[in-house]
Amino acid sequence: MRKKVIAGNWKMNKLPNDAIEFITELTPLVKNSENEVVLCVPYTDLFYSLLHAQDTNIKIGAQNMHFEERGAYTGEVSGEMLKSIGVEYVIIGHSERRAYYNETDETVNKKLKKALSLGLKPIVCVGETLSQRENGLAKDVVITQTKLALQGLKNEEVEKIIIAYEPIWSISTISTGKTATKEDANEAIKWIRKEIEKIYGSEVSENVIIQYGGSVKSGNAKDLFEMSDIDGGLVGGASLDAQEFAKIVNYNV
Ligand code: 13P
Repeated sequence: MRKKVIAGNWKMNKLPNDAIEFITELTPLVKNSENEVVLCVPYTDLFYSLLHAQDTNIKIGAQNMHFEERGAYTGEVSGEMLKSIGVEYVIIGHSERRAYYNETDETVNKKLKKALSLGLKPIVCVGETLSQRENGLAKDVVITQTKLALQGLKNEEVEKIIIAYEPIWSISTISTGKTATKEDANEAIKWIRKEIEKIYGSEVSENVIIQYGGSVKSGNAKDLFEMSDIDGGLVGGASLDAQEFAKIVNYNV
């Protein structure tokens, strides 16, 4: 049985004091959850969040990292730096980074390899735009992104990765007015799982955790997460409120 991983992606929100308050409020609400609870916070919140999440079941992640260990990369943060303060998870290749910061399939692949070599748990994002979906290209796009992200990885490495299927058109801040149905989400995740099975075999494809992301809220979490292939979610807007996020984490209690 694959574990459900419910990860919040705060994006560029919350100051350290907000993060501390949030974790203090969330801790008792999720302490009995059998699901993995992760908060991917801004760099400036990482240290405070790690301190305040100590001795809780809340894991802390970053939202990006560089693939080089050090050097003349002004403004960047390396995986080694994340690891050195105790960060466990890192989001790689979020659609916002692909769209606004020239993140490519190649850099996603390099970052993934680096994160795995350091023992960080990567959450790799893939997903199509609305026009790609409307033109019948969703499956191709998602499979290509997945294959390129995982290129050159060994079976045991692929098993350690979390993939987040995030159809860009379904992200709450994109305002296409559309959201993926649980059937859309499950179908796309099955495409990904099938492709992983083709390349890495059925044991790997059965074990790899594939989340859904895009307008996940307390009102739809149960429906989504009970689908056969959806192993939890990567939650944006709804992860900014501790009560709301706790309801998503506790969708099955
Ligand atoms: P929303 O949950 O706000 O739609 O954001 C999804 C997302 O981008 C999470 O990484």
